[in-house]
Order: sequence, then structure tokens, then C-alpha cells
Amino acid sequence: MPLHTAVIPAAGMGTRFLPATKAVPKELMPIFDTPALQLVMDEAIGAGCDHIVVVSSKAKTGIEAYLAPSADAVKRVRDSGRTELADRLARIGSDVRVSVVYQDAPRGLGHAIGCARSAVGNEPFAVLLPDELMGDSSLLKQMSDMFLQNDKSVVGLKQVPMTEVSAYGCVKTTSAPTASGEVTVTDVVEKPAMHEAPSDLILIGRYVLHAGMFDMLDALKPAPSGEIQLTDALLIEAQAGDLFGVVSNIARFDTGTPMGWLQAVIELTLQRKDAGAELEAWLKGKYS
Ligand code: G1P
Repeated sequence: MPLHTAVIPAAGMGTRFLPATKAVPKELMPIFDTPALQLVMDEAIGAGCDHIVVVSSKAKTGIEAYLAPSADAVKRVRDSGRTELADRLARIGSDVRVSVVYQDAPRGLGHAIGCARSAVGNEPFAVLLPDELMGDSSLLKQMSDMFLQNDKSVVGLKQVPMTEVSAYGCVKTTSAPTASGEVTVTDVVEKPAMHEAPSDLILIGRYVLHAGMFDMLDALKPAPSGEIQLTDALLIEAQAGDLFGVVSNIARFDTGTPMGWLQAVIELTLQRKDAGAELEAWLKGKYS
């Protein structure tokens, strides 16, 4: 069954971005002029998804306001000359359906994904963590194709310096990646200490999961932190030989901290046709 639903967990309270997140959900913080949430939705749509399920919190009313289709906003963006952006915005609520579901309490990523169950239905789905921005849809598309071939869950992976692994889920694989980066994952550890990490390959917040994942999450016991961890379900799959991965060189930006967010804003704005040259000239002028 082709992948057509993407789940975006966006219920977190954004503590690291206080005081901004008193009023603005972290997922709506702009990358130049466009919320991170929109960029992640665009990535999913670019990989073939036509149904986006956003897991939000009742306290984050801005998320629903943003997702409500607005012909007026699309027109104003179009009138300002940003045609390509206007085209992307116009798809939300027309050929791309958006569902919003709620996570009532912060009970972990696995629990957040479980909250999407009735909106997803009995079919495979992608998960995109909106803290992580990718340069394009190529990784998710490759993961989706790999899922279609094997009918087993696929995780997006990237090699990072060992000093960074303790901030992420980290995996062990059976062998070196194929030419296209494909691997079988045999172990998954959430945020290991550097000296205990199984490798320098981390989970970068992109997953394609089979529908059975919802039952697996339901059956999980909470981790010592009290949270239902997606990583615990992935570990069960890995130990059964049922988890694949794609090791990617894709450009990736972790906006989970204010500094990471600021770097993403600068890097991604430098890449924009309508603003990159102006920003680059300003930066050069400042530091030459
Ligand atoms: C989550 C996952 C972790 C993954 C990371 C990617 O952690 O639990 O496995 O590596 O996202 O950003 P979080 O950053 O939400 O603590």
C-alpha cells in the first residue's frame, strides 16, 4: 500500500524556547517567513503524502489557526510575488487533507504517535519530527520506496560526530550501508552516553512505520521517565530483524534549541532565491 499519511507530533510545550513559546508554538517559529511546520508538511507532500495528521495540544491554538485554509493568506502571499510559496500553501485543505488530533499530557513521542491512530487508520504512515528540517523530500521518498519493497519499518539515519550522539536515538546496524545507504538495524538506544553508544549513526526524526506499530505502542510499558518511547518499539522490531534504515547525507537542521533554530534560519534563508543573496551580502559586509 503506498504511503499517503504523515504524522507530525507537535504537542510539546517548547520549554527551551520560553518566553517566545508563551504565545507562539515552537512549530510556528518562522524560518525566514515560513513556519517550520509548513516546511515539514511540504517535505511530506513532496514525498507523496496527501494526508497530514498533526498531533497538537489544546493549549496551542495557534497550530489550528495556522492549519485552517485561508484563501486570503494565499492571495496575499501570491500578490507579494512569492508564487511558489503561495502554490504550496494553496494545497493545504484542497488536495492535501489535514487532521488535527490532541495529546492531552506530555507522555512521550510513542504516546503522541498513538494519539494519531484513529486519524491514520489501518495503514502505514510516516512520522516527521518538526524539530528536524531537511533540505528536501528525497530521504522520506527513499524511505517510503524501501517500505513498499519490504513491508518493514524504515528509519532515517545520519552519521554525526560521537560528541553529539547522546542527544539522539542511536543505532547499530548489521553491516556497512549499501551504495544507496540502506542498512538493517539491529539495536536502538535512546540518548546513550557517548562511551555506550552503539555507533555514530543517529535517528534524525524521520520514520516510515507499518500500521502494526500502533498495537506495539499500546503494549509498551512506560520508560523510567514515565514516557512511552517510540525507541522502545523500534528496538523490538530491530531485535526481530524487522527494522531497516537509510543512512543519508541529506542537509539536516536540528531546530530543537534556539541556537540550532537560528542556524537553520540563516542556512535555509541563504538557500532562498528571493532572499539568499541579500542575506549573504549583509553577512559578508558584517564580517569582512
Ligand atoms: C527524538 C527521538 C530521538 C531522535 C530525535 C531526533 O528525541 O526520541 O530518538 O534522535 O528526536 O531529533 P527528542 O529530540 O524529541 O528528545
